[in-house]
Amino acid sequence: TNSPKSIIVIFGATGDLANRKLYPSIYRLYRNGKLSENFAVVGVARRPLTNEDFRNNVKKSISHFEDKSIDPDAFASHFHYHPFDVQDLSYYQSLNKLLNTLDEKHETEGNRIFYLAMAPNFFGTLATNLKSEGLTSTNGWTRLVIEKPFGHNFKSAKELNDQIREAFTEDQIYRIDHYLGKEMVQNIEVIRFANAMFEPLWNNQHISNIQITSSEVLGVEDRGRYYESSGALRDMVQNHMLQMMALLAMEPPIKLTPEEIRSEKVKVLRALKPITEEDVEKYFVRGQYDRGILNGEEINGYREGNSVDPESNTETFVSGKLLIENFRWAGVPFYIRTGKRMKKKSTEIVIQFKDLPMNLYYDKEENIHPNLLVIHIQPYEGITLHLNAKKGEYGSTSTPITLNYNNNGSNDKMNTPEAYEVLLNDCMRGDSTNFTHWDEVALSWKFVDIISNAWENTKAEQFPNYESGSNGPKESEALLENDGFNWWSVTPEEE
Ligand code: BG6
Repeated sequence: TNSPKSIIVIFGATGDLANRKLYPSIYRLYRNGKLSENFAVVGVARRPLTNEDFRNNVKKSISHFEDKSIDPDAFASHFHYHPFDVQDLSYYQSLNKLLNTLDEKHETEGNRIFYLAMAPNFFGTLATNLKSEGLTSTNGWTRLVIEKPFGHNFKSAKELNDQIREAFTEDQIYRIDHYLGKEMVQNIEVIRFANAMFEPLWNNQHISNIQITSSEVLGVEDRGRYYESSGALRDMVQNHMLQMMALLAMEPPIKLTPEEIRSEKVKVLRALKPITEEDVEKYFVRGQYDRGILNGEEINGYREGNSVDPESNTETFVSGKLLIENFRWAGVPFYIRTGKRMKKKSTEIVIQFKDLPMNLYYDKEENIHPNLLVIHIQPYEGITLHLNAKKGEYGSTSTPITLNYNNNGSNDKMNTPEAYEVLLNDCMRGDSTNFTHWDEVALSWKFVDIISNAWENTKAEQFPNYESGSNGPKESEALLENDGFNWWSVTPEEE
């Protein structure tokens, strides 16, 4: 087997991310033969748990995915627990001893992954201490996986990065953007660069606008404290939305190496048209969800949530118009939109092509529909192509038709790998393509900072609301209408 041998140390082992995403992902890698027998997971957190407690937690977290052919105890026997205090150096020493013992026991060849899935204010200290206390591997490789948020703005992100870079080199650092692990996000490049019919049209000669929407039904749940200091702009736009935009807009890389792909993405971010605070007024819309009805249920407003300031001016919705100033994209708006407590859970990318010079098949009921290529990211995964074809048997008018490729339809959803599973596997194999480089993070923050600065001091009463269960504030519709467009929502019905 060529599966990599390593120890994965998870900081924040009792947290939500570890239980909901990481353990199930490790289990699925194990089940699918993507992990060699030579692996160990060390869970690290404040709580004083025994190995047995920890293994029981892990077994609970994988119980939905259980596969009869796998003995859960055999799987859990790879898991070990070590209580920890980030500030206390003696814990690093004892952790190091444990790692050395496990390295021998599981024959992991000295390879170590440190996965930071905990409160971000500890990221820097942890990185420093891991290095100074000698936990970075001496005989194998060491990789550091960092969850979001990577900073709060450019300044704090840079401070964090500088601190981490004192202990780890850029190629040891794997910054997570879990959208990059999604099947259909990874498909953007394949659709673009493996099909002769799209690339020639993929520019301002033929595309009128691109729309990227990621809407959620869930509210902020019990993450009020984090979300109050974040908001939709930092939580979704700085990372996921701008990453999807970069993949849609980048030039074909000369090779599929992490360096080549990253350098094309960085160029897109560098070409983003700089905005001023006045532009923010014109080209960006925010909102906060108010009470409403969602799936038949009455929903409280954002300000009524736990740990949320009743006067909060944190946005739970953002939409905006971005321009990329280069030869390929000059003049083509990229519209982005993301929000919580919206009508449906859906991430979707719409590429709208320009209209034909004239319409031969005019019909008073159905005008020619613009051609759309839609990349459905989730929960429906697929591609649809919206065309026009002959209507009925008589006459010569046209009607819109749809060609539909469904990536997850009849399969049991478990067969589509979960983003974290893909990313963990990439990290173990040492492939950093689907992680974000510092250059991308820095440029994204610089762009987003202008918007957050413009919004910072808005009074609570001036804040635009939107009803829970809607498509966001009406200003968001106007943003496109002013340019003669509208938001498309075109997910095929799931059987
Ligand atoms: C996370 C955000 O990065 O992405 C969350 O912090 C958000 O607020 C989540 O809910 C959305 O991810 P997904 O995979 O459900 O679209």
